[in-house]
Amino acid sequence: MPGTIDIKELHVSYNGIKVLKGIDLSIPPGKVTALIGPSGCGKTTLLRCLNRLSSLIKGCKTKGKIYLDGEDIQQMDAVLLRRRVGMVFQKPNPFPMSVRENVLYGLKANNDNHHRRADYGPLVESSLVKAALWEELKDRLEHNAFALSLGQQQRLCFARSLAISPDIILLDEPASSLDPISASQLESSILSIKEECTVVIVTHNLPQALRVSDYVAFIYLGELVEFGETSKVFKSPQSQKTREYIGGKFG
Ligand SMILES: Nc1ncnc2c1ncn2[C@@H]1O[C@H](COP(=O)(O)OP(=O)(O)OP(=O)(O)O)[C@@H](O)[C@H]1O
Ligand SMILES: [Mg+2]
Repeated sequence: MPGTIDIKELHVSYNGIKVLKGIDLSIPPGKVTALIGPSGCGKTTLLRCLNRLSSLIKGCKTKGKIYLDGEDIQQMDAVLLRRRVGMVFQKPNPFPMSVRENVLYGLKANNDNHHRRADYGPLVESSLVKAALWEELKDRLEHNAFALSLGQQQRLCFARSLAISPDIILLDEPASSLDPISASQLESSILSIKEECTVVIVTHNLPQALRVSDYVAFIYLGELVEFGETSKVFKSPQSQKTREYIGGKFG
């Protein structure tokens, strides 16, 4: 199964200030890996390196290598890379168009003539089903996405990323602005898609990490302190720092 990420000696700085200090991490395919750690430890920075959004940030310098299925991402075309590695941000960012157009946005932007006359109905449906949104929205496909609730907007952004069949999907605290019911709907859709793509999720919510992830990486002050199977790390962390963080001693 595609979707393996290998991070080797990754260093990142902003305007000369070191933020990630030599991260080595292999993210397994077809699983959910959660990145946890206190605010400012570098989780978003790490996530943004995986699809090279980091290269668009002023003052950001990276050193080290990241491989996607054995291929150095630095050598890949950025547009193709971002098609394979989708991302959903903390705040929902639907486009000012219909639900259907939002779902199809990536596909239409990427393909032109080839798919012009295609029937997109099944793809819209399957993407919304995966994002646990179909039942709610099947009669509102032509409505503007801005009219949706925040939770629906976030699941729509998720559906939009899924529609182009990425190998990997990056989620940066996707549920933090959602109410508990929307958050749990998002969690169930995360669990349902890992059969077909690798998921990397940043979350502050430890119970959520425990519910959705197979593996967990604990980052502290720009270093990877611990990585392992979620159940093991939560039950018997190897590092004292992980134990303290999971035990709520700091956060
Ligand atoms: N664009 C930027 N320019 C300068 N410094 C930045 C930039 N983005 C992040 N930083 C700094 O890098 C460090 C890591 O930030 P990052 O956003 O990766 O942390 P985080 O773990 O995602 O935190 P949070 O949990 O609060 O989202 C912080 O000290 C932050 O201030
Ligand atoms: Mg962050």
